[in-house]
Amino acid sequence: MTLKSIVYESGKLEILDQLLLPNQTKYIRIDGVEDGWRAINTMQVRGAPAIAIVGCLSLAVELQREVFNSKKVIRQEVEGKLNYLVSARPTAVNMKIAAQVLINFVNELDENETVGPEDMKSGFISAIEAMLEKDIADNRAIGEFGADAILSSIPEDHVVRIITHCNTGSLATAGYGTALGIVRTLHARKRIEHVYCTETRPYNQGARLTAYELVHEQIPSTLVCDSMVAALMKSRSILAVVVGADRVAANGDTANKIGTYQIAVTAKYHNVPFYVAAPRTSIDFSIPSGEYIVIEERPDKEMTHIGEHRIAAQGISCWNPAFDVTPAHLITAIITEQGVFKPHELQNI
Ligand code: MRU
Repeated sequence: MTLKSIVYESGKLEILDQLLLPNQTKYIRIDGVEDGWRAINTMQVRGAPAIAIVGCLSLAVELQREVFNSKKVIRQEVEGKLNYLVSARPTAVNMKIAAQVLINFVNELDENETVGPEDMKSGFISAIEAMLEKDIADNRAIGEFGADAILSSIPEDHVVRIITHCNTGSLATAGYGTALGIVRTLHARKRIEHVYCTETRPYNQGARLTAYELVHEQIPSTLVCDSMVAALMKSRSILAVVVGADRVAANGDTANKIGTYQIAVTAKYHNVPFYVAAPRTSIDFSIPSGEYIVIEERPDKEMTHIGEHRIAAQGISCWNPAFDVTPAHLITAIITEQGVFKPHELQNI
């Protein structure tokens, strides 16, 4: 059975509540933009592509039940609500790019005199629905390009050991996954010897979500704490690190889950290639470098507690940035659905 984080049919959206995983598999209904914003903000759904898709689909279900007599009203509503959804989490760029694309699209429909309000609404909803299929197709392409790139340096009968960080799989996307999609493709080609997934403190996307996906897919895998990566690279031969991205700047600097940067530094030291897997919708050509990326800071409780159980000393203060920026010079290549690019070649996309 394929894992599905997003279940959608016209007018009805449900998401797998990722706060409850891996212990409970519970789908919750998203009835409109308010629900969508809250689910993204509280991380019931997370992962850059999934955030954008759930945000946009929450708008689609809300529009589905409304009746419009005026195109101007649709345009204003769509623009206001998309901008609101962008504010749910600041670092991942996919929702922002999706909002820009959809606002441009709704403006074109508004200017087209042959399109009436109801056609405008249904055309807009169809454009959102198309994102689901496109994301899965893009992830499959990333999987193929990524597997080819990783395997290119080794003989055909060799198998690989890979490290991945955070969760970039079916739960973080419409399906299949980006970095974890590459792992899936390598596994399908029978070229994975072992995957090491990091715990990904403090929110534990690795221990809770990636481990869940790897076990579900029966991919040979082991969980390590974030602090074990250097020891792992020293003691086992690791062929590559593959991670996802929340936002890639025009020069290739990449914001991803906190801890990614230290893994990239460690990979450089051990001569292990470090790949970023990201769809085109995670690349922000409007910013020249990672300095311009806003890093979300999350509540102390994610660090001080595990569930409701306090583990940190009372009274200690916390710093909890959810992401860090890996400089482009530490990145071997960025794997997209359009091919594999060295950071300085990104502009060729
Ligand atoms: O805070 P999260 O769980 O939304 O962070 C997710 C990540 O950092 C992922 O690596 C990234 O969004 C890519 S998901 C394909």
